[in-house]
Amino acid sequence: MLNVALPKGRLGEKVYEMFAKAGYECPAILENSRKLIFENPEKQVRYFWVKPSDVSIYVERGAADIGVAGKDILCEYEPEIYELLDLNIGKCRMAVAAKKGFYDDGQRTLRVATKFTSIAAKYYAEKCRDIDIIKLNGSIEIAPILGLSDVIVDIVETGTTLKENDLEVTETILPISARLISNRASFKFKTAQIEDVVEKLKAQVKYDD
Ligand code: PRP
Repeated sequence: MLNVALPKGRLGEKVYEMFAKAGYECPAILENSRKLIFENPEKQVRYFWVKPSDVSIYVERGAADIGVAGKDILCEYEPEIYELLDLNIGKCRMAVAAKKGFYDDGQRTLRVATKFTSIAAKYYAEKCRDIDIIKLNGSIEIAPILGLSDVIVDIVETGTTLKENDLEVTETILPISARLISNRASFKFKTAQIEDVVEKLKAQVKYDD
């Protein structure tokens, strides 16, 4: 059995669709239920629904052979996995945003609110900019509005959340999309099966024009 960790939610449904079209279907997964594990013995595949930010933990530790995780999570936690394929879905970007008109004159330590503390720390270290990181777990956009931080480092997809809160992107840090990842030992011992998945998924990837 090839154990596959899928990110729960809208992105995960798109990912499963790609796997199904690639010949690794498991129809039971589409039944509305609260079950988290599904398998299709005929296709030698077992799927788990896990929290998107946990996929790389399951894969790194070998509880899953392969999985699909966002580039944001891979950059933040740097798990020891192999990144096999960019699925070109779940596209967004990691960006710095601030209240409209905010100007960083570089004179004071910059207060940065974020869930992605490692990405933020690395980004500002490269610019030799002193920062004070404020770790939050959600609704990051509120921080500059209430004066908790000067800027935020967060995911921007459509830009609606920023717009509705009078914030704007000041810098883009990195483009993000969903990646197929593999456990390192699994890749060694289940090479043929994993390579088959990669090849068949590749044919499902829709590239931008
Ligand atoms: C993410 C991100 C932004 C929002 C961006 O939040 O943190 O808040 O999506 O999307 P948009 O540009 O399309 O408006 P998420 O829904 O993951 O919740 P969170 O508050 O827990 O981060």
